Amino acid sequence: MAWYDDYFEDDYLLLEEPTDVETLGHIAFLRSVLPGRTQARVLDLACGSGRLSLAMARLGWRVTALDFKESMLRRGREMAEKAGLAIDFILQDMRKLNYEAEFDFVLSFLHSFGYFRDEENLRVLSAMARALKPGGRLLLDLANRDTLLTELEKHARRWIYRSDHYLLFRRDLDPLTGRLDSKITVIPEGGLARHHSSSVRYYTYPELKGMLRQAGLKIVGIHGGYDRTPCAWGSPRMLVVAEKG
Ligand SMILES: C[S@@+](CC[C@H](N)C(=O)[O-])C[C@H]1O[C@@H](n2cnc3c(N)ncnc32)[C@H](O)[C@@H]1O
Repeated sequence: MAWYDDYFEDDYLLLEEPTDVETLGHIAFLRSVLPGRTQARVLDLACGSGRLSLAMARLGWRVTALDFKESMLRRGREMAEKAGLAIDFILQDMRKLNYEAEFDFVLSFLHSFGYFRDEENLRVLSAMARALKPGGRLLLDLANRDTLLTELEKHARRWIYRSDHYLLFRRDLDPLTGRLDSKITVIPEGGLARHHSSSVRYYTYPELKGMLRQAGLKIVGIHGGYDRTPCAWGSPRMLVVAEKG
């Protein structure tokens, strides 16, 4: 069993789910880099709880929200139903993505890329490109690997306390594979420890540029944060906007 098969359950929400305020910032960013087409068709790939799918549906976009975890999709469906929003929720592994020129935008948000081996990651990227209509845009939201490297010393071994849980992190970046391997222990106050691990390939910008070119996409924008600051030394994110010719 691979790490991602059981990582994205309740503890993922505790560890990583952005707050509503953060989500508002993400949506403002999305609107600023994806040209305002009314009725745009958008694929929210690895949509998680559907927090962005809902916000995009409110903009009037026609959203397909895809994830391989039924528990995640269920949350999205419930929220969409309550809000009276029509969203197409699809249970599928992103490695089986098979759309041809159907979407104006494809979104891979919150470091949802790099889970597999390099060849497989490239295949997923190529499938994202195929899913786009000509002129359509892909938005890849990744951590800035170079910043991660400089700050790893501070974060490699640490613990925090959140929502009545102790969270312990042990992180190592393997220079030979370019993967960040994490071991995470979640200890509920007065409860038993739960253990998780993850292994994500973090690409440099030049690596990613080459992969996007191979996938048939051209970079039209690169930002270092959701406030659209330039991607530079020390910026937290690598937000790549790429267009299909
Ligand atoms: C870091 S979360 C991001 C969720 C969402 N994009 C967001 O911005 O909140 C990554 C998501 O990828 C999904 N995922 C992981 N592996 C996947 C796969 N092979 N196919 C489809 N979804 C996958 C997980 O279930 C999880 O919901």
